[in-house]
Amino acid sequence: MTFTYLTAGESHGPQLTGIIEGLPAGLTIDLDQVNTALADRQRGYGRGHRQQIEHDRVQVCGGLRHGVTLGSPLVLTIKNRDHAHWSEIMAPTTPATPTNTTRKVTRPRPGHADLVGGRKYGHADLRNVLERSSARETAIRVAIGNVCEQLLAQVGIQLASAVTQVGPLTAPVPTEMTLAELKAATAANDLRLVDPTKLAAIHQLIDQTRRAGDTLGGTVVVIAENVPAGLGSYTSWDTKLDAKLAAAVMGVNAIKGVEIGDGFAAAARPGSQVMDPITFDPATGFARTSNHLGGFEGGMTTGMPIVITAAMKPIPTLYHPLATVDLMTMQPAKANVERSDTTAIVPAALVVENVVAIELVRALCAAFPSDELTLFKKSVAAWRERMNEGRDGDD
Ligand SMILES: Cc1cc2nc3c(=O)[nH]c(=O)nc-3n(C[C@H](O)[C@H](O)[C@H](O)COP(=O)(O)O)c2cc1C
Repeated sequence: MTFTYLTAGESHGPQLTGIIEGLPAGLTIDLDQVNTALADRQRGYGRGHRQQIEHDRVQVCGGLRHGVTLGSPLVLTIKNRDHAHWSEIMAPTTPATPTNTTRKVTRPRPGHADLVGGRKYGHADLRNVLERSSARETAIRVAIGNVCEQLLAQVGIQLASAVTQVGPLTAPVPTEMTLAELKAATAANDLRLVDPTKLAAIHQLIDQTRRAGDTLGGTVVVIAENVPAGLGSYTSWDTKLDAKLAAAVMGVNAIKGVEIGDGFAAAARPGSQVMDPITFDPATGFARTSNHLGGFEGGMTTGMPIVITAAMKPIPTLYHPLATVDLMTMQPAKANVERSDTTAIVPAALVVENVVAIELVRALCAAFPSDELTLFKKSVAAWRERMNEGRDGDD
């Protein structure tokens, strides 16, 4: 069964829905863990009022029995508590009336999907666009991603993420830091930083920016450890797993750049400082003495940690709005202001981590028998051994 997933739901609609097809049967899913991830997505300095309204909790209405996956599509939902305030305006079935269409959006925000989305789908009310292009949808992607992280844990794969830059201020992750240290450090502050000495300056920057009616972006890093070597393929461009991961990360709202390993910085260095020397130990197999290439060669995982950095643009909704055109009058106007974050770099780190988890599960389910968990785990374990053996054909 091919692994695939779909999400549905509007930001102020009744609920978000996610359907995952192709998960192995026999996986015990810890819903508390999913809910912890959802709570994590809601935290972070610089968020707006919406996060105080929502207390996201996942519900399951298909594909699970007594907490264990059946192999049938897994259906996850998250209620939008804010829908209570929007039940008339966002009513899925009540026909449009003069009273439930009062909050029409006609002044598209530069940087959001409003203008082009409205033109493309023929929506005179841009609410029909922004309700779906809103990053509220990333809540259900995090729920799906957390289920995927639970499957990855079954085969020893762990992921973590950190914020490494907010606006111009940087907080890099030291290369020698373990994943456990990274997780502990980022959980201990409201900016998901590994270096708490940078907190005060970044808080101050966010406060100043909010007061100025402006917004900030930044960068995040995601690390996936213990991924078996040989996922993805060099044989055709569309089989390269690094390319698929880059597409999934770019598919997160507001992400404008993706780097694998040293990424753009590698372009400035000689090859001797970028390629990762190979070693072999009969007991532990192949290894590398560095990881500049972020766990990929030829579109295939090398077995070294996958390291992905993503750049997020500043939030497009500005409380001091930019110039736009009112589509009712076609006259110059100030852009619509929708309740918004000053920066969403903290949740973005988690969302990027979760879409990476989803793509790793997709790659594993494509490579190994994935109808049920026991055979899946055995197959991954056997593959790890095969990839670390010495010369083929030797007795
Ligand atoms: C977690 C998260 C939260 C976001 N919050 C907001 C927000 O409050 N206001 C806003 O205008 N954009 C927000 N964005 C960004 C928009 O969703 C995004 O810019 C928009 O959908 C246009 O897509 P694009 O930036 O990928 O071109 C957020 C993005 C993420 C990942």
